[in-house]
Amino acid sequence: MESTFPVFDPASPQAESIRDLFVQVLFISGGIFAIVAGLICFALYRFRVSENLPVQDFGSHRREIAWMVGPVIIVVWIAAISIKLILTVNALPVQYVEGSTDGIDLIVTGHQWWWEVEYPASGIVSANEIHIPTGKKLRVALRSEDVIHSFWVAQLTRKMDAIPGHENFVWLEASTPGTYQGRCAEYCGTQHAWMNFLVIAHEPADFEAWQKREKQVSTAPDDQLASAGEALFMKLTCSQCHAISGTEAKEDFAPDLTHLASRAQLGAGVLKNTPEELRTWLANPQAVKPGCKMPNFKLKDEQLDQLVAYLETLR
Ligand code: CUA
Repeated sequence: MESTFPVFDPASPQAESIRDLFVQVLFISGGIFAIVAGLICFALYRFRVSENLPVQDFGSHRREIAWMVGPVIIVVWIAAISIKLILTVNALPVQYVEGSTDGIDLIVTGHQWWWEVEYPASGIVSANEIHIPTGKKLRVALRSEDVIHSFWVAQLTRKMDAIPGHENFVWLEASTPGTYQGRCAEYCGTQHAWMNFLVIAHEPADFEAWQKREKQVSTAPDDQLASAGEALFMKLTCSQCHAISGTEAKEDFAPDLTHLASRAQLGAGVLKNTPEELRTWLANPQAVKPGCKMPNFKLKDEQLDQLVAYLETLR
């Protein structure tokens, strides 16, 4: 799947301050570069003939003080605006107590190569898709299950590492409804490039509706093909890695599939979530995303039809 990743199109106060800092530092360093390069060019041209040397003078307190004080002012200024930005963008850490909802709105865990998304207040678990209400600052706790990943939604917030055994925090906020691209920004193995996710910002009322839908557990399908698919899912190893609420599949090694069919992408962005592409994925995940943790089960056509029919009922 192709997608753009706009870096200079902020959609949150945090991303706006990041863009502003970037532009300020770019102008300061661009200005210094222009002055230095200009002086070098001037000297090269003006004194190109060796007989034409400039007056040689040694020691000038005024100039020495100027070239020390000038850079110090610039460096202190850049440090000050950077620290101010870091304090605005980084959420203060909160000790998360299992079962409590104090202060943490979202827990995002990096896995090779997908993102687990948990809403502690509502118990919703999802993967590779984060739904948020607009105009609210959400405290996100970042974790990792294996290696270091980095959580990055350029239009909304800063990059922040997801580190095994250590929790990091960022604010996530969107000013306007929309779909924002997220990336893993730290090389984390073969499929680092396919560790994408989406942040979908809704008006608060729409977010409530989404939450209500997402909290519903799945019910047994009434269609025969889909029922056969469900039985197959539970019988095969699928249910030993994935969870689907309302069923006996409860493992969290692989993405939670409870509302799989309502998501936009498959395999952390590698495919669009359509019945055809889902079939391609199930037929051989290793051909689509080599090295991913889902093996090729060499399913028969009939089994693929059943599994696709079942998974499509998970809305
Ligand atoms: Cu995860 Cu790169």
